[in-house]
Amino acid sequence: MKETPVAVVTGGSRGIGRAVARELAGWGYRLVLVARSRENLEAARAELAKECGLAGVDQPDIEAADLADAGAVREAAAAVTARHGRVDLLFNGAGISVPGSFELDEPVFSRLLAVNLRAPFLLMREIVPLMLRQGRGRIINVASRNGKVAVAGLGGYSASKFGLMGLGEAAYRELAAKGVSVTTICPGWVNTDMAAGEGASLPPEAMIQPEDIARTVRWLLSLGPSVRVMDVLLECAGDVERRASVELAKLYALRDRHREEFDNLVL
Ligand SMILES: NC(=O)c1ccc[n+]([C@@H]2O[C@H](COP(=O)([O-])OP(=O)(O)OC[C@H]3O[C@@H](n4cnc5c(N)ncnc54)[C@H](OP(=O)(O)O)[C@@H]3O)[C@@H](O)[C@H]2O)c1
Repeated sequence: MKETPVAVVTGGSRGIGRAVARELAGWGYRLVLVARSRENLEAARAELAKECGLAGVDQPDIEAADLADAGAVREAAAAVTARHGRVDLLFNGAGISVPGSFELDEPVFSRLLAVNLRAPFLLMREIVPLMLRQGRGRIINVASRNGKVAVAGLGGYSASKFGLMGLGEAAYRELAAKGVSVTTICPGWVNTDMAAGEGASLPPEAMIQPEDIARTVRWLLSLGPSVRVMDVLLECAGDVERRASVELAKLYALRDRHREEFDNLVL
């Protein structure tokens, strides 16, 4: 008999993680939702159970853990593996955003790295060996558009997301031929509590919606086992022209650093 696949969704209580959890429930995954607030996790579990018709053992498990605490991350991973014995999909969606670069206090900078980069690293470190033993697995990390192009005033957040991009790319290359796919999703503004708290430059309806990320996950799941997708960049339509495309921004930065070579370029 085929075992029910298990998905661990960090940040599964709200925003992007919550929308992705609903999508995964629809694909028949047994869910484990991870976040700090037990109250929000319980509310998400009850809503998902109602929306997706899940009862008894099919209802999501919840793990209340502060992912800034390395010990708590390892305990959460150990609890999941002890209870389920397998993990088929790890969705690293939990994250925090704090504006600032050099004016950030060291503990705040460290917390950004701990939640946005070290926690996904630790979870991958605990869960990848299990996926390798299973012979298959999927890892989906949520970085950001700010993990591809840094903007002034967001140095701490960008550092954490660039780090996650690097970790994801290394894992993508290491694990691709071993049955484990690793994809990093890099969205612009997404209409969640995080964007509301950040004073986003776009109205909510002009942002990417959490369901768009869920649809991206749906697309990834629909691909055949021989396909790998390293990363997916999702931008808000109203942001693309103003902020220029990622590649163009990189090109401009290169041009500014190597003005002479660029001026002599014949295209
Ligand atoms: N919204 C955007 O515009 C945007 C754009 C690009 C990328 N992203 C990225 O997308 C991911 C999800 O963001 P979102 O917009 O859905 O944010 P959100 O609405 O603020 O939700 C964040 C989720 O992460 C959990 N979380 C936060 N800190 C945690 C911690 N220390 N330990 C455990 N769980 C924690 C939260 O639950 P608790 O608070 O209960 O812990 C919540 O479930 C993040 O990685 C974010 O950086 C967001």
